[in-house]
Amino acid sequence: MHMERIRIVGNPNLQLKGKVKISGAKNAVLPAITASLLTKEKVRLKNIPLVKDVFTILTVMKELGANYSKRKNTLSIQAKKINSAEASYELISAMRASILVLGPLLARYGKAIVALPGGCAIGSRPIDLHIHGLEKLGATISLEHGYIKAEAKKLHGAEIEFEKKSVGGTENLIMAASLAQGETVLKNCSLEPEVLDLCELLVKMGAKIDGIGQETIRIKGVKELGGATHDIIPDRIEAGTFLVAGALTRGNIVLTNSRPHHLDTIIEKLRYSGAKIEQLNNNSLRVIGSEDIKSQDVTTSPYPGFPTDMQAQFTILMTQASGTSIITETIFDRRFTHINELLRLGANIEVSGDKATVRGKTPLSGAEIIASDLRASASLILAGLIASGETIVNKVEHLDRGYEKLEGKLKSLGAHIERIKE
Ligand code: UD1
Repeated sequence: MHMERIRIVGNPNLQLKGKVKISGAKNAVLPAITASLLTKEKVRLKNIPLVKDVFTILTVMKELGANYSKRKNTLSIQAKKINSAEASYELISAMRASILVLGPLLARYGKAIVALPGGCAIGSRPIDLHIHGLEKLGATISLEHGYIKAEAKKLHGAEIEFEKKSVGGTENLIMAASLAQGETVLKNCSLEPEVLDLCELLVKMGAKIDGIGQETIRIKGVKELGGATHDIIPDRIEAGTFLVAGALTRGNIVLTNSRPHHLDTIIEKLRYSGAKIEQLNNNSLRVIGSEDIKSQDVTTSPYPGFPTDMQAQFTILMTQASGTSIITETIFDRRFTHINELLRLGANIEVSGDKATVRGKTPLSGAEIIASDLRASASLILAGLIASGETIVNKVEHLDRGYEKLEGKLKSLGAHIERIKE
């Protein structure tokens, strides 16, 4: 395997300027792809992001028997027949979201053997909510040799309340329930726009879902689902990352192909910090960064709260704010791995439990650093942009899992950034 790194020549006075097109949402396309297992017919997905996680899930889908073709950002995928019900450890360990095949396989094929995802860089991530929910729908589930073995002749409706909000858990159960016999009521569902996008696709495929966008969702199971064509929503985390980039560099960036209302909480926080953000129309926004960045506390929480996937990027902004900010991470434990790297760049941050105390404003100076997970890698790149001198970010494979051409997009806005392959 080639080692790829990103080299940035940073500049504390950098001002990013120009227009950037936001890609489709990684977290929306992954469940949309696994939803295609629910039908024999073809599902066409437009505006898909060309990122590594998409190719990983497509490999899983191929193993299961689906065929697909891709033209630019449009994917046609069809699971006429399911050949295998097994998603191997190799693939699941590469990407935890592969667990999203569990519900659809069980509902359509009556059987699923899926490797149990191990812990990952951002803390232990259990899947008990997925498993308990599927059991309530009538599945028999056992854990053997590191694999989840699930079986059900026919799933049946049930009332299920999530003990805790789970994006993937909500998605898996909605998919499974849409082919179950009878009615399912899901309570305390996640409200992330990606969950709603999946519901919209399922409705186009013929699912009977009531209460989309609410915490309680009712699903009347149908015998069969059919094909559909669907536009994947824009990636709100990528958009948020560019908004932070604009705020951080006193820049002037226009984001196109975005959904401003998915970004309400992020925009509110950035405005409070001094950035000017205006909505230009239904799908574009302008961010103008300010000279003085104001410190503030932020606590991650499920949508519509501040997303955990924006925590690392926001932390970088707070290193440049005057004053102290307390960042509280409530969704995942061990999601502060980027902070050790930021300390090497000169940031003043102290971590204690689920809180990081950031004291600004500190000048950053470039160094060689290691990306530890997807969002951490984007945040380290943002830091490198405004650090003086050269920053090398190692392990960019994390970045490539979820950002489409991040360095190319930043370059077009005026950053000195390149990928080094050796
Ligand atoms: C999804 C996103 C990820 C985002 C996360 C939280 C995808 C592909 N990924 O991940 O980018 O950071 O939502 O917004 O959409 N939990 C349990 N038991 C379970 C499932 C989850 O305890 O069975 C816990 C998790 O450990 C975590 C919390 O619930 O503390 C939320 O996790 P969840 O919403 O399920 O995240 P993912 O769907 O894995």
